[in-house]
Amino acid sequence: MQTSRRKSPLLSSVTIAMKHRKNNNLSVFVVVSSIFIFGVFMYNEDVKSIAEFPFSWPKSQEIQEEPSKGTTPVQETLKKDRELPASVGSRTSLEEPQVDQEFEENQESDKLKSSGSKEYEEKIELPIIEEDDVDVELPPEECDLFTGQWVFDNETRPLYKEDECEFLTAQVTCMRNGRKDSLYQNWKWQPRDCSLPKFKPRLLLNKLRNKRLMFVGDSLNRNQWESMICFVQSVIPPGRKSLNKTGSLAVFRIEDYNATVEFYWAPFLVESNSDDPNMHSILKRIIMPESIDKHGVNWKNVDYLIFNTYIWWMNTFSMKVLRGSFDEGSTEYDEIERPVAYRRVLNTWSKWVEKNVDPNRTTVFFSSMSPLHIKALDWNNPDAVMCEKETTPILNMSIPLEGSNDHRYFAIAEKVIHSMKFPIKFLNITTLSEYRKDAHPSIYNKVPSREQKANPAKYSDCVHWCVPGLPDTWNELLYAYITNQY
Ligand SMILES: *[C@@H]1O[C@H](CO)[C@@H](O)[C@H](O)[C@H]1NC(C)=O
Ligand SMILES: *[C@@H]1O[C@H](CO)[C@@H](O)[C@H](O)[C@H]1NC(C)=O
Ligand SMILES: *[C@@H]1O[C@H](CO)[C@@H](O)[C@H](O)[C@H]1NC(C)=O
Ligand SMILES: *[C@@H]1O[C@H](CO)[C@@H](O)[C@H](O)[C@H]1NC(C)=O
Ligand SMILES: *[C@@H]1O[C@H](CO)[C@@H](O)[C@H](O)[C@H]1NC(C)=O
Ligand SMILES: *[C@@H]1O[C@H](CO)[C@@H](O)[C@H](O)[C@H]1NC(C)=O
Repeated sequence: MQTSRRKSPLLSSVTIAMKHRKNNNLSVFVVVSSIFIFGVFMYNEDVKSIAEFPFSWPKSQEIQEEPSKGTTPVQETLKKDRELPASVGSRTSLEEPQVDQEFEENQESDKLKSSGSKEYEEKIELPIIEEDDVDVELPPEECDLFTGQWVFDNETRPLYKEDECEFLTAQVTCMRNGRKDSLYQNWKWQPRDCSLPKFKPRLLLNKLRNKRLMFVGDSLNRNQWESMICFVQSVIPPGRKSLNKTGSLAVFRIEDYNATVEFYWAPFLVESNSDDPNMHSILKRIIMPESIDKHGVNWKNVDYLIFNTYIWWMNTFSMKVLRGSFDEGSTEYDEIERPVAYRRVLNTWSKWVEKNVDPNRTTVFFSSMSPLHIKALDWNNPDAVMCEKETTPILNMSIPLEGSNDHRYFAIAEKVIHSMKFPIKFLNITTLSEYRKDAHPSIYNKVPSREQKANPAKYSDCVHWCVPGLPDTWNELLYAYITNQY
């Protein structure tokens, strides 16, 4: 068994699951195989290490105890977590699929782009046509922007075209990578009780004049940052905009407005051994839940801060917490329940905000978790592999939306934020994104090889989102807040 698993992890593990099925019901089978598919998926950048990493499968009984159901009260689920053996976690060490190398490669091409753009500088004398900025109807402040529905709208969506945004990385350019259907770009989020303001790049840029906007967090926030760059760059002539990635910080600069749209890589917000923006493929993820200042110093004097952290908490059933510090060379750690660690991290973050951010200058946002679509049975599609071949949002309103997403983290974040004195704007993007099974790159997060096309279970990215696409809606929501102030 051991040898065959090493050769073909997916197949043999499903076989294992099938055996248990005799004694358990179908849902256990589904949970086992989907957890496994998730594990493979999260890991497929480094398939070799899946094969080499010795992991033991938990008994099906134990897996059954890990229901990722939002309805389960946090306390109760915590207890269940504790019963899981630590060895389970190591199996699904989280990797951002096929991202890291590309991020690095893109850094190279971005360097070229920003240096190449200098050539334009002398030619640029384009008149800047000002839009009528006054003419934007803003939603009333008390309107709940997050409750509503998706409406098909191929007249006004997408807000820009994929190939008009030169700064996108290959991970999100689904059409360029070969995706054939494009309807995923044609959905508009319609709040129930009001409408989102019409998007006008210059209005946003005027708000950002002499200011800094920064996304801080993991690759989902990077996804949104890329979309935001597309939003604002469309009205800026070549040579007056540039992208500079240095260490954990990537800065998109818009010269004529003295404005920046930045992204800071900190997948756990606090210090961790995965903080290198390119080389974070580390098997044993370890965090320091009370240590944030090293990152935080880079977040000071920013005018709009948008934080998130979720996906990296999905990799293991427990979280490794360092005893001591990385600087002192400590390597020993304790394993604690993930939600407990998550709460500690968000408490650290909230104290940092209260102490270091001036609410009169800076608006702080926190994005709720971005959902995955890794289990097609969640939306009653027995024929699909994960989010592969999904071309429409979930439109059947009787399907429970939370699917396989772990809403405990949503609840913890919401609670921490509401207990803060600092007025954090909570970007409640989870539910509206849960409808969007169609909006992930699947195998088109790169130009897929024949092997990748043949094996979507192993190569589909159902975590990130195509751009243009869903992250544009997240930015429209952000835009609604930013334009509503001052
Ligand atoms: C978030 O939005 C969903 C609808 O999209 C709503 O059902 C839920 O109550 C909201 N949660 C919070 C905390 O605002
Ligand atoms: C928009 O969708 C409608 C209905 O599906 C279709 O008839 C029309 O041709 C589409 N328009 C564009 C510009 O794609
Ligand atoms: C440019 O923006 C920065 C903040 O991003 C600000 O500190 C600086 O004063 C601005 N420069 C001018 C000339 O306004
Ligand atoms: C990019 O930013 C770094 C750090 O701020 C700076 O040292 C470097 O000169 C910048 N590179 C370019 C091409 O602007
Ligand atoms: C923010 O501004 C208000 C009113 O101008 C002032 O009372 C308050 O002390 C300021 N807060 C901080 C943290 O500077
Ligand atoms: C909608 O979802 C419900 C619950 O999963 C299912 O019973 C029903 O058949 C679905 N309706 C359609 C039209 O697919």
